[in-house]
Amino acid sequence: MSVQIGNIELGEFPLLLAPMEDVSDPPFRYVCKQNGADMMYTEFISSEGLIRDAAKSRQKLDIFEYERPIGIQIFGSDIEHMREATEIASQVNPDLIDINYGCPVKNVACRGAGASLLQDIDKMVAMTKAVVEATHLPVTVKTRLGWDDNTKNVYEVAERLQDVGIKALTIHGRTRSQMYKGFADWTLIREIKKNPGIKIPIFGNGDIDSPQKAAAWRMEYGVDGMMIGRAAIGYPWIFREIKHFFNTGEFLEKPTIAERVDVCRTHLEKSIEWKGPKTGVFEMRRHYSNYFKGIDHFKEYRMKLVTASTFEEINEILFEVADNYSAEMA
Ligand SMILES: Cc1cc2nc3c(=O)[nH]c(=O)nc-3n(C[C@H](O)[C@H](O)[C@H](O)COP(=O)(O)O)c2cc1C
Repeated sequence: MSVQIGNIELGEFPLLLAPMEDVSDPPFRYVCKQNGADMMYTEFISSEGLIRDAAKSRQKLDIFEYERPIGIQIFGSDIEHMREATEIASQVNPDLIDINYGCPVKNVACRGAGASLLQDIDKMVAMTKAVVEATHLPVTVKTRLGWDDNTKNVYEVAERLQDVGIKALTIHGRTRSQMYKGFADWTLIREIKKNPGIKIPIFGNGDIDSPQKAAAWRMEYGVDGMMIGRAAIGYPWIFREIKHFFNTGEFLEKPTIAERVDVCRTHLEKSIEWKGPKTGVFEMRRHYSNYFKGIDHFKEYRMKLVTASTFEEINEILFEVADNYSAEMA
């Protein structure tokens, strides 16, 4: 059965690219979309930043037609400001607005935004209602199991947020105090799926990093789809690999070195196109080691890649990488 968020049809068991600050920008989203991500989100955007018209927040509103369906994710601690930010974000016409109630990092959660709303569900509900009322678009939420081990309140959160009109909920199977440590536990996510009162799609998130795990957890937890974050960094093929495994029960061949080089180059091109030559080259540096993870003696090439300063230089090095490794990877 096809999963639906408002009027957005996502097909059966969609795979979503997780919003990731400093990662899921348009260049990265481009390569994830090419490789099968069914829905994507922007990096989180500060409601305060949007209202102040801060350049960084504004830039994150850039979305492209080929990315659809795409959601803009916002966060904040002030209900009125979240309402205003929703209006601003809606003007660029994304497919949906997503609210971040999951971010655990101090300068977000300790300023009353992100996961900290898990400590004040009444406020979270009021904020969500304000966002839903401020836009004609579907509103979704991304959150965690709860603040800490003693307050895993996401079951109640799911019911109450559905009541005020959210159209889908993504749950990262960790608490705020876990940050990114330990393992994601999806048990409570299954409980929510079993709640007969819950009608909206529930997406599981946390630690999906292989087709086998995706297939096993799909069966075990009964979610409507999955959101994938870290496993897609430097490996956007994860989406198509999981889909292929679902459809055939067989593993897709891993990308060849030539494919890795191609996708890495596309990522760089898009990065330059969107950010300009200087920032585009600079911000791409964090990605090279991810694209070529597991390749013997890559260190030397990595050094070259992160010190080169123009597309032409980097492209030369990428050709060398392809030449050098293709024989041994074949
Ligand atoms: C570098 C990084 C940045 C992130 N930024 C965001 C963000 O902007 N908004 C958000 O909701 N979650 C953010 N997250 C959390 C991810 O969306 C996701 O919930 C988490 O990584 C668990 O999924 P995974 O195990 O598939 O990575 C971020 C995670 C990472 C690693």
